[in-house]
Amino acid sequence: EKVPLSLKVNGTKHKLQVEPRTTLLDLLREQLHLTGTKKGCDYGQCGACTVHVDGQRVNSCLSFAVMHDGQEITTIEGLAKGDELHPMQEAFVKHDGFQCGYCTPGQIMSAVACVREGHAGSEGEIREYMSGNICRCGAYSNIVAAIQDVKQ
Ligand code: FES
Repeated sequence: EKVPLSLKVNGTKHKLQVEPRTTLLDLLREQLHLTGTKKGCDYGQCGACTVHVDGQRVNSCLSFAVMHDGQEITTIEGLAKGDELHPMQEAFVKHDGFQCGYCTPGQIMSAVACVREGHAGSEGEIREYMSGNICRCGAYSNIVAAIQDVKQ
């Protein structure tokens, strides 16, 4: 049986009906067609599904959508302002912070939270904060460089 759910996603209010077992990740991708957020592992191991919930980063595969009634979700689609990329997106481009790009939306959502929460003080701190976001291409040093660039 479906239950009602109100969410604000990237600034737009949605009134939805969802099954209680639907994850936030599946809701975003399948009901709202926001496919920028990726499903890598679907069990909390890779970080590809990272979004912000009321400004805090969350692995959306580990969270049931119904837990977020009334909350504000930001996905990778919500970072740019019109044609203008978010500074972190610009920095990932400038520093080649990706190869295949599959992990990139999650990396960028974590990276934005990393700087905002003040965890970008040193390379070690950045690597620790970003350790839940796996990149199979191994672009880690370029990702760190992008974050260090934005933090200044
Ligand atoms: Fe959520 Fe991998 S898909 S952590």
